[in-house]
Amino acid sequence: MSRSSAADRRADHRWFDEARFGLFVHFGLYSVAARHEWVMTRERRTVEDYERYAEFFEPDLFDASKIATLAKSAGMGYAVLTTKHHDGFCMWDSRFTTYTSMHHQHRDFVREWVDALRAAGLKVGLYHSLLDWHHPDFPYDFHHPRRDDADARDAHPERTMAEYRTYLHNQVRELLTNYGTIDYLFFDFSYPWESDGWTGKGKEDWGSDELLAMVRELQPGIIVNDRLDIPADLVTPEQYQPSAPMEIDGERVRWEACQTLNGSWGYDRDNLDFKSTDLIVRMLSDTVSKGGNLLLNIGPDGRGAVSPVDEHTLAEVGKWMRLHRNAIVGADAAEGFTAPEGAVLTKRGDRLYIHLLHWPFGHLHLPDLAGKVRFARLLNDGSELKMTEFSPETVALTTEPGGQPAGTLTLELPVRRPDVLVPVIELYLSPDALR
Ligand code: GLC
Repeated sequence: MSRSSAADRRADHRWFDEARFGLFVHFGLYSVAARHEWVMTRERRTVEDYERYAEFFEPDLFDASKIATLAKSAGMGYAVLTTKHHDGFCMWDSRFTTYTSMHHQHRDFVREWVDALRAAGLKVGLYHSLLDWHHPDFPYDFHHPRRDDADARDAHPERTMAEYRTYLHNQVRELLTNYGTIDYLFFDFSYPWESDGWTGKGKEDWGSDELLAMVRELQPGIIVNDRLDIPADLVTPEQYQPSAPMEIDGERVRWEACQTLNGSWGYDRDNLDFKSTDLIVRMLSDTVSKGGNLLLNIGPDGRGAVSPVDEHTLAEVGKWMRLHRNAIVGADAAEGFTAPEGAVLTKRGDRLYIHLLHWPFGHLHLPDLAGKVRFARLLNDGSELKMTEFSPETVALTTEPGGQPAGTLTLELPVRRPDVLVPVIELYLSPDALR
């Protein structure tokens, strides 16, 4: 259960480090409300009121195979579905509650999900909420929809965390027993601090040590995130891009940034704050250049359909990935190499990839690479880029570019930026550069 570092990455987790890019899918009753997956608590809804959505949830257009195809063609290697979000509605056939999609919709979405992903050759991921605003034993706290009710604090002692904990463990056991191999589990989330006179919840409440041990026993190869309030296999920065490879106590750790398309995880009809497709690709390049993974979210709508904007974004990213896959999948941070201004680097074996976040005019100067590159090309069309070395002694003249610091390799670029979201240059490094 030790923290996973670059050095002790387990062989069965290698697929994750290679994939680099995955799809997150937030889908549940809140997709019907269509105003953020936290709608139950944002609007202080009672259980009786909120659970009526179960009656009106008719996701006739949810098609796990279509989502798997979209993920696959976007160049993703895995995908993660919400089994249960904080609202407590279960998207599988659970025998521990009737608040399930099986009971209400006669559909087991987790079953549909795992079957579709496996058929598409994607690794199977599940998200599971530790919080549960529907369960009668889940004690109130500062995130709970009832936190402001006059009688909430009095009602609090009736709720027994031990009962809820059993429910939580039972359901996780069910999910990891009945659906074959689950490759990845995203628990969400811990908040072990006080606020507003309420106590939050952390590892003692969830029984995290026992829970994680059970997960590993049931699914020995699984990758588990760090939101149980104890270290596991990766850290999960959310809605921000780390500014450097992530470390804990000075040691590199496996990480995955999870990102939304518009700031909301669940379908949010009136929120049009969408990230552009080129921003998404730049975020992907940036992530891999720092040795991380990107888990990109979509929120299917109230009928289960992938919204046109989400579909368009995945398709555009997919067009880029079709040409630039080698700079992402199986690639890592290019340690020991310095990126030129306005670019980030990734590396895969003897290939160094320069992701040009903006397009310079004419020349690209690469410090310390003189004599270390066998061939240079644009990745999108495979076309050669001429290499030169300006001797440090030459001075820039009227029409002649000047010398560069010793060791600089200069590439000649076409004036026209290739028509792709982020142009990438592929360098074949010579054995010298790899020492
Ligand atoms: C947060 C939110 C949640 C979302 C998750 C994704 O912890 O509570 O709504 O599902 O992040 O990482």
